Amino acid sequence: MPPKTFYITTPIYYVNDVPHIGHAYTTVAADAVARYRRLKGDRVLFLTGTDEHGQKVEKAAEASGLSPQEFVDNVCRRFRELWQQLNISNDDFIKTTEERHKKAVTAIWETVAKKGDIFLGEYEDWYCTSDESFLTEIQLVDGKCPDCGRAVEKLKEESYFFRLSKYGALLLKHIEENPSFIQPVSKRNEIVSFLKEGLRDLSVSRTTFKWGLPVPGDARHVIYVWFDALTNYLTAAGYPDNKDGWWPADLHLIGKDILRFHTVYWPAFLLSAGLPLPKKVFAHGWWTVDGNKMSKSRGNVVDPGALAGKYGVDAFRYFLLREMPFGADGDFSEKALISRINSELANDLGNLLSRSLTMIDKYRAGVVPPPAPEKDRGLEADLKSLLKALPAEYSSAMDGIGFYDALQKVWAVVREMNAYVDKAAPWKEKDEETLSNVLYTLSEGLRIVSVYVYPFMPDAAGKMSASLGVELPKSFEETEFGKGEAGRKTTKIPSLFPRIQ
Ligand code: MSP
Repeated sequence: MPPKTFYITTPIYYVNDVPHIGHAYTTVAADAVARYRRLKGDRVLFLTGTDEHGQKVEKAAEASGLSPQEFVDNVCRRFRELWQQLNISNDDFIKTTEERHKKAVTAIWETVAKKGDIFLGEYEDWYCTSDESFLTEIQLVDGKCPDCGRAVEKLKEESYFFRLSKYGALLLKHIEENPSFIQPVSKRNEIVSFLKEGLRDLSVSRTTFKWGLPVPGDARHVIYVWFDALTNYLTAAGYPDNKDGWWPADLHLIGKDILRFHTVYWPAFLLSAGLPLPKKVFAHGWWTVDGNKMSKSRGNVVDPGALAGKYGVDAFRYFLLREMPFGADGDFSEKALISRINSELANDLGNLLSRSLTMIDKYRAGVVPPPAPEKDRGLEADLKSLLKALPAEYSSAMDGIGFYDALQKVWAVVREMNAYVDKAAPWKEKDEETLSNVLYTLSEGLRIVSVYVYPFMPDAAGKMSASLGVELPKSFEETEFGKGEAGRKTTKIPSLFPRIQ
C-alpha cells in the first residue's frame, strides 16, 4: 500500500512586520504535526510562506523607502531565517509574489468567474487595512474595527464581487455533515451562528492601490488580498496543472482571528471552483504577554528568535506547545518559561537521562546490558505497561491536535521512570542480573521516550538517542519495548537542559 499523504499548512504571514511569537506558535505547532506524521510513515507536505500583496504591505514598503518587491523580499528573509533557527521542517515555502502563485490565482478566478459567481458592482462601506477586511457600519465598535480596534476607512469604489450569499446554506450543510471540519467545537459554533445570520456578497477587488495581482481581463482592478492569499494552499498543491496533486489539505492550522476567512470565504471559493474542501481547519488561541495584549504600541512584542537564542530552541518549542491546550488562550512570561524548563526539562527529563547514563557507565562500563525479563518484578511490570499504553494515548492526542495532552502523557512516563530509579535503587542492587535488567529497562524507556519527544524537540531527541547509542528515531515502530539491542555503547553527554537560575 502506498503511504498515506498528509498535507498541512500554516497561514502565510504578512510581511509588513517582523516575526513574533504568534507566528512562531502556529509554525512550531505545524512542525510538530508534520514530524509526528512522518514518524507514522505518512508522506507529508508541510507548507508555510509569506503573504506579500495588499494595501497594508504597500504602505509599509512606502514608509521604508524601498520598492514593494525589495521590501517583501527583505522581510520574507527574516521569516525564513527564523524557521531555520527554530528547526522547522517545512517542505515548501510559498511567496505570493511568485509566478506559480499568480498562475494559480488567475486560474481559480477565471473558473469562479466562468461559473457566474463574480460580478461587477460598487462597494460602499468600511475597510480595515490592518486586517485587510471589509466591514459594515453595524459591525464597527465605537467607529473602529471590531477585531483589532484600529481606525477604519470609508470606501466607495467600483469593485468585483463574489457571490458569497449563494454558498451559506451549502457551507452549513458541510459543517453539519463533517463535525471535525472546524475545530475546536467552540469555533465551529461561532461560525455556524455567523452563517445562520446570512451572508452578503464579498468585494473581491480594489482599485485604489496597485500592489497585488491584476483581475484577469480588467487590470484596473487588483484582486482582494485574501482571495489571493488563501489560494496559496492550492498553488503549493500543484494547482491548476497537477490534477492529482496534494489537494485537499488535511489540515489548515490558523489563529482564531482568521477563522472566518478560512471557514467561510475559502470554502465558498472552493465550492464555486468545484474543488474539494480542506479536511480540517483548527484555530488556536492567542498569547498575551505578562497578562497584556501584545502590541507594537505597548512595546511588548515577543521576539521568538531572541528567546530561542537565550533559552534554547527545543525549550522554547516545548514551552509553546505545553503551556496551554491548543485552541485556548494563554499568557507568555519568561518566568513561566523558566519554570517549565527547570521543572520539566531539566529536573524530569534531563535528570532522568543523565542519571541513567551515569549508572550504565558506572556499573556496565557504558554498554547497555542484556535484559533479564525473568527478573522483572512489579516495578518493571508497571513501567512496561505504562510504556505499552503510551502509543495509543499519544496518537489519539496528536490526531486531535492535542499537544498539551500528548506531552502530559509522555511526562507521566518520564516521572514514573524517575520514581522507578528511586524504587529500584541500582546502587543497592546485589543481584547482577537484576541490575542488568534495571539498566536495560531504563535505556529502553529512554529510547522510547526520545521518539515521542522528537516532534516537539527534534534536537534533544537526537542527542538523547545518540547518547543511548541508537539512531535518530525514524518511525513509531521503533517504540516497542525490547527493540533496543543490548551491547550498544552509551555516551555521557553534557546536561540536555541546563537549569536556569
Ligand atoms: N496573512 C494573513 C494570513 C493569510 S493565510 C491565507 C495573516 N497574517 S499575520 O501575519 O497577520 O498573522 C498570522 C498568524 O499569526 C495568525 O494565525 C494569527 O492568529 C497569529 N497571531 C498573531 N498574533 C498572535 C498572538 N498574539 N498569539 C497567537 N497567535 C497570533 O493573518
